[in-house]
Amino acid sequence: PTAVGFIGWRGMVGSVLMDRLRAEGDFAGLDPVFFSTSNVGGAAPEIEGAGDTGTLQDAYDLDALSRLPVIVTTQGGDYTKAVHGDLRARGWDGLWIDAASTLRMNDNAVIVLDPVNRDVIDSALERGVKDFVGGNCTVSCMLMGLGGLFRNDLVEWATSMTYQAASGGGARHMREVLTQFGDLYGAVADELADPASAILEIDRAVLAKQRSGELDTTQFGVPLSGSLIPWIDADLGNGQSREEWKAQAETNKILGRGGDSPVPVDGLCVRIAAMRSHSQALTLKLRDEIPVAEIERILDADNEWATVVPNTKEDSVRELTPVAASGSLQIPVGRIRPMSMGPQYISAFTVGDQLLWGAAEPVRRMLKIATG
Ligand code: HSE
Repeated sequence: PTAVGFIGWRGMVGSVLMDRLRAEGDFAGLDPVFFSTSNVGGAAPEIEGAGDTGTLQDAYDLDALSRLPVIVTTQGGDYTKAVHGDLRARGWDGLWIDAASTLRMNDNAVIVLDPVNRDVIDSALERGVKDFVGGNCTVSCMLMGLGGLFRNDLVEWATSMTYQAASGGGARHMREVLTQFGDLYGAVADELADPASAILEIDRAVLAKQRSGELDTTQFGVPLSGSLIPWIDADLGNGQSREEWKAQAETNKILGRGGDSPVPVDGLCVRIAAMRSHSQALTLKLRDEIPVAEIERILDADNEWATVVPNTKEDSVRELTPVAASGSLQIPVGRIRPMSMGPQYISAFTVGDQLLWGAAEPVRRMLKIATG
């Protein structure tokens, strides 16, 4: 079995990764070594079939890390920044598999999403590439749903308007959303219970609470529950957010399209008070006119997770929501229809669990590819 170091396995993405590794029986071929940034010497998690996993190693111990042929980190970008460069500088040439964005756009790193870019991954492994990084959650979920159109080079450009869940910020962000909802409810619970009360009074009281400064907004900075935030990640100073910039940069890198002929992908990224599934509304300009039935066939056939939802009200409201998609590896894609701008302009809506295909699953599968 291959010795694999795990860092950040206790965090939110790490916990989802651990669950998936267990569910798929992936530990069977591995000799896992668990690291910690905060509990060195504590008991490592028990893994059925993996024997004694011993105690937690120090995640900053470069000697211990450099003895391993494979390291998987879901610890976050600060950890990657602190450790990866030093490890490489001392000559470590193991595989670094990472969920954080830090190394993503490096020339010698590959963004992993194997159902979409297995060819890119395989040729990188052959070339001796050692850094493999999971993509931005929105990009990965979009490509899992719409990969068929992109992989067949049918898209001239795309614009995506996102509806991103709290989990993209982190575990504390999810708690904050729920706490805010609770506080808002608490502000009007009595009036709400009275069917005779006036809704405009209730609305006024909710708004007053949202504007009162009393809600905990430590994570998001402003109230999210009962509102939205039309900006995600850093301000690049050109009117675009970093999250929006990633769409084109990462999509094209994943697809292995060189710098000269990128497919333009741009849009607005918006945070909403969903829990863990990111949604996005897309407008695609196709290179040719393609009948909807053919588009649906291409999307469905592309990979076993993309699932076309018929463009009816009944199917859309039932299957094309964060509530429907959360906890599942399926990526529903629907609302596919030609738009009034012309037959080559197609709308689509897709939803994906931001912690599964958006974070843990591409990393898990890359580990499997690397050690399989
Ligand atoms: N940046 C994403 C978000 C999550 O904030 O939703 C990480 O890919």
